[in-house]
Amino acid sequence: MSDLIIAIDGPVGAGKSTAARLLAKRLRYRYIDSGAMYRALTWKALQVGLDLDDERSVRRLADATSIALEPDGDRERILVDGQDVSRQIREREVEQATSKISIYPSVREVMVARQRHMAAQGGIVMDGRDIGTVVFPDADVKFYLTARLEVRAERRYLEVQAAGASRKISELTEEIELRDARDMGRHTSPLRRADEAITIDTSDLPIAQVVDAMEEEIRRKVAAAKGLTRVP
Ligand code: DC
Repeated sequence: MSDLIIAIDGPVGAGKSTAARLLAKRLRYRYIDSGAMYRALTWKALQVGLDLDDERSVRRLADATSIALEPDGDRERILVDGQDVSRQIREREVEQATSKISIYPSVREVMVARQRHMAAQGGIVMDGRDIGTVVFPDADVKFYLTARLEVRAERRYLEVQAAGASRKISELTEEIELRDARDMGRHTSPLRRADEAITIDTSDLPIAQVVDAMEEEIRRKVAAAKGLTRVP
């Protein structure tokens, strides 16, 4: 399968990026982490001391900023104007500020245009919040990943620990609830399941099984829509 567009949406901690990365590897597709693009812009806005409440300035900055995603072993390298900021964009301060700038319609417009451009040749797996609803309403296959709140908090806890930090699970749970409320409650491109998206609850599934289920679904859809693309 050489040219499909696979859209994956879902809330924080649903396992989107891990599943998307593995799926892309199996299909030999490119993985695009759209959240990293919003984080990258936010990192730069904080660096230059921009007023994050001023949508027009953030939009101007978006226009003037180059954001590149490059494969780097099993992960990706995120470059802002050529500088590697892969680690910095995961910091808490950046994370919290990102949900602020990602509500701006004019900023999303720039990001969506870039995401569509990156996918122009097909053969991509992209994850985020609005991929199946706004960025690629005609995506070949759409998934909506979800998981129970306590499982998502636990995953976040392990991630934070692996990064050498320590946080209370109750605090992380509250943060996730807050981010859910922001992502789902915002006016522009809120997180929601696209009508035709296939929902996978990842709470009790090992990641390999999640990816198996996705791959099977893709192959089934391709076979059903004969002529959509080449099936190996
Ligand atoms: O998936 P993530 O945690 O890296 O996303 C970071 C932030 O960007 C989060 O606040 C949601 C937002 N985001 C978005 O608004 N639209 C996307 N397509 C992806 C992420």
